[in-house]
Amino acid sequence: MQLSSKDLLGLKELSEEEISYILDTASIMKNVLKSNNKKTSHLQGKSVVTLFYENSTRTRLSFEMASKFMGAATANVSASISSVKKGENLLDTAATIDAMSTDIIIMRHPQSGAPHFIASAVNASIVNAGDGMNEHPTQALLDMLTIQSFKGNLKNLKVAIIGDVYHSRVARSNIWGMSKLGAKVHLAGPSTLMPKGIEAAGCHIAKNIKEACDGADVIMTLRLQMERQQHCLFPNVNEYFKFYGVDEKVLSYANKDVMILHPGPCNHGVEISSNVYKSSASFIKEQVTNGVALRMAVLYLLSVRRNLV
Ligand code: CP
Repeated sequence: MQLSSKDLLGLKELSEEEISYILDTASIMKNVLKSNNKKTSHLQGKSVVTLFYENSTRTRLSFEMASKFMGAATANVSASISSVKKGENLLDTAATIDAMSTDIIIMRHPQSGAPHFIASAVNASIVNAGDGMNEHPTQALLDMLTIQSFKGNLKNLKVAIIGDVYHSRVARSNIWGMSKLGAKVHLAGPSTLMPKGIEAAGCHIAKNIKEACDGADVIMTLRLQMERQQHCLFPNVNEYFKFYGVDEKVLSYANKDVMILHPGPCNHGVEISSNVYKSSASFIKEQVTNGVALRMAVLYLLSVRRNLV
């Protein structure tokens, strides 16, 4: 099997088989990371560039570590210290990176659709590392890898996604991906932060957090994205936590072996209590660990496809 596209732009575009193939490959990469020698030659002779127009800790660092573990030549371009500051546009910047025989460009941009636009204009493979409010496919894949590692698979699992769904590219990618793998995705959040028509992606909107988390196998709480809110969409942070914060009471609605996930970065006491964050139900650290293996798998599979075509 090989991936159908030279790029990874979103889980909306991927088939169930492709998602499972990436997750299976990531499980093998997890074993590489657990070994004494993390170095492989999967990307020997390849070049990987990260191009980030927004801040990141987890995504950029894990892609960089994944590339380095697999032997690629790697470089980072931050919009804030590049010629973007001199007025260079996105297309010219991407074309410049492409002209240096770059194999894979990992791109984060505040505009939804920016990676799709660049993917059609360059020879390099484009990996969407988060585009506006649209998708963050590798985050959702690592979330699914984390669930699969502990639950076996996602079929018929009840997954509750709580909070600021409207601004969340992580939520959108997870709704697409988890639904394709057979999970039942239930959403809860303030009506002002719930996108209209989101049920068409294969999820259900619950009346409140109790309904969403009742008997849940997984609860994913989302970061409240204040930087994307132009108007005040809820009364205040204390009120938000009262109705949509994940605390011990919310845990009590769920199954005993519920997994708590958060994509990070996390606002303690806003989306999640510090007690739940630190509890044995929390798999937030495992998500970060799995991020490296998952990104190794994505880079490897895109590079295999480039060698074949
Ligand atoms: N989850 C996530 O995308 O985190 P970063 O913004 O730190 O990359």
